[in-house]
Amino acid sequence: MQTEQGKFITLEGSEGAGKSTNLVFIAETLRQTGKTVITTREPGGSEIGEKIRALLLDPQNSAMHADTELLLMFAARAQHLQQTILPALKQGIWVISDRFTDASYAYQGAARGLGFERIAPLESWVQGQFAPDLTLVFDLPIEVGMVRVAARAGRVDRFEQEQSAFFAKVREAYLQRAQLSLQRYCVLNAAQPLEVVQQQIREQLRLRLGC
Ligand code: TMP
Repeated sequence: MQTEQGKFITLEGSEGAGKSTNLVFIAETLRQTGKTVITTREPGGSEIGEKIRALLLDPQNSAMHADTELLLMFAARAQHLQQTILPALKQGIWVISDRFTDASYAYQGAARGLGFERIAPLESWVQGQFAPDLTLVFDLPIEVGMVRVAARAGRVDRFEQEQSAFFAKVREAYLQRAQLSLQRYCVLNAAQPLEVVQQQIREQLRLRLGC
């Protein structure tokens, strides 16, 4: 008997939108329905991908050109897809990723100014027609996200050092992309209390993926 493919869910949004907390929540919710689930992230998600992540986030790499940044994102993604995501889905495992290709459109395409037309060919090269089954966009005002990030302990990474104009472009690009397919994207107001956001997530999982 052939195993039914797992589903691929991605979480997107600017920094401080609550993706990490909700990633754990979604995984738990799905496990309670009997699904086997793995959680992963981008850039990263494989041994090689995590090494590329370290290069990308290191604030000391301030000389990194936007093209280099974009190509490294896709290099990490190629490895992540081939080594982690596709084999899991094939075995019927559900995969939830903290960010995926929409982040390249928002951060490199829009905020770094490379343009969406630079991203699309890389997307088809690395993924072909493959795309997430559901993308949850955690949307919130830039200032709220920046305050949440500032309140976190630890070192600020190369992206978190950016100013509000950068994050405004990220936010706008996500909202623009979410208009592309109302079937694939769901925009959540992440400024609401966590319980409300999680209630809405539960509802979306039920409505869109039948869980
Ligand atoms: P995070 O995992 O803490 O969200 O950090 C990853 C950072 O990398 C975040 O600032 C967004 C950025 N990023 C891109 O710029 N392009 C991408 O394609 C991905 C996946 C992430």
